[in-house]
Amino acid sequence: MSRVALRKALADLPPYVPGARAPVGAAAYKLSSNENPFPPLPSVVAAIADAAVDVNRYPDMYATELGEAIAASLGVTPDSIVTGCGSVAALGHVLTAVCEAGDEVVLPWRSFEAYPIAVSLAGAEGVRVPVGADGRLDLEAMAEAVTPRTKVVLVCTPNNPTGPAVHADELARFLAAVPSDVLVVLDEAYVEFVRDERAADGLAVFAEHPNVVLLRTFSKAYGLAGLRVGYAVARPRLAAGIRAASTPFGVSHVAQLAALASLRARDELLRRVDSVVAERARLLTALRAQGWTVPDSQANFVWLPLGEQASSFAERCARAGVLVRPFAGDGVRVSVGEPEATDLFLEVSSEVTRR
Ligand SMILES: Cc1ncc(COP(=O)(O)O)c(C=O)c1O
Repeated sequence: MSRVALRKALADLPPYVPGARAPVGAAAYKLSSNENPFPPLPSVVAAIADAAVDVNRYPDMYATELGEAIAASLGVTPDSIVTGCGSVAALGHVLTAVCEAGDEVVLPWRSFEAYPIAVSLAGAEGVRVPVGADGRLDLEAMAEAVTPRTKVVLVCTPNNPTGPAVHADELARFLAAVPSDVLVVLDEAYVEFVRDERAADGLAVFAEHPNVVLLRTFSKAYGLAGLRVGYAVARPRLAAGIRAASTPFGVSHVAQLAALASLRARDELLRRVDSVVAERARLLTALRAQGWTVPDSQANFVWLPLGEQASSFAERCARAGVLVRPFAGDGVRVSVGEPEATDLFLEVSSEVTRR
């Protein structure tokens, strides 16, 4: 038994519960991790294969070519981009770069479950602001939660797991109310799936506000969840700090080349996103027709506020061959996947008492 003390922050750390996987040898649709149901494009597989022969070497530590390609696609300068081992790592690096022990980080709740973990590991204190019954972030309450101790506010848009995107007018009011030395992180992991015309335009907001950082990822729309590539977009001085706080060589050579190939195939990949968005509409419409009250979704998942029935509903789905993500006592998040998976899921949802 080791007598080495672990950090106190670990004692209270909520666990990150990964989406359920089918047991080895069993078949099930995996709608539990907001993944892209499409396999990688042949051009991306070819880039991965080409990259494989170089894995005896370290990758380009600064992912220079990828950073330049991302910057060009967004219309920002390359020194604004910091890549990481998934945007979840980029978030950790952002917090490590700016938080001192005891600083406060305001965050919506329920939201992405990695937030409280990342905040605690950065030595900061999370201040949770409840999301409304409609699944929308309450940006007014979040602005009111800002104190002189607040260093960062996390804004998840669209919000995982509830689905709605933050609107441009509410974000503008929020940014006007928050002091300019508070960092506002817009987590746009699902931005490519947004179709709400009122949704905030993260890049435009970034251009106007030097205290805004964007987080984006290749895991969702680009279908590279297994390779772990995400990035932060920040003003160059902040970006340099985030880079300094990053894990060296955090994005593998294989991941860098796959992300570059995905950017080159962007139009084709975004057509796949269109089909996920269409499937999302079919799922939402069918659920509402069954009598369910579900919030709007601008991402690749929908939220069922099942309360105490969440876990039993997820078990029922699993028995039917569909894995979903329950949040015990709160609700169930269902990723938008294959049409066959939607059909199977809708069979289960039709048999359960609606709320
Ligand atoms: C809101 C949000 N942000 C960030 C991430 C992290 O994505 P990744 O680390 O794969 O880039 C996720 C993943 O589910 C997410 O839902």
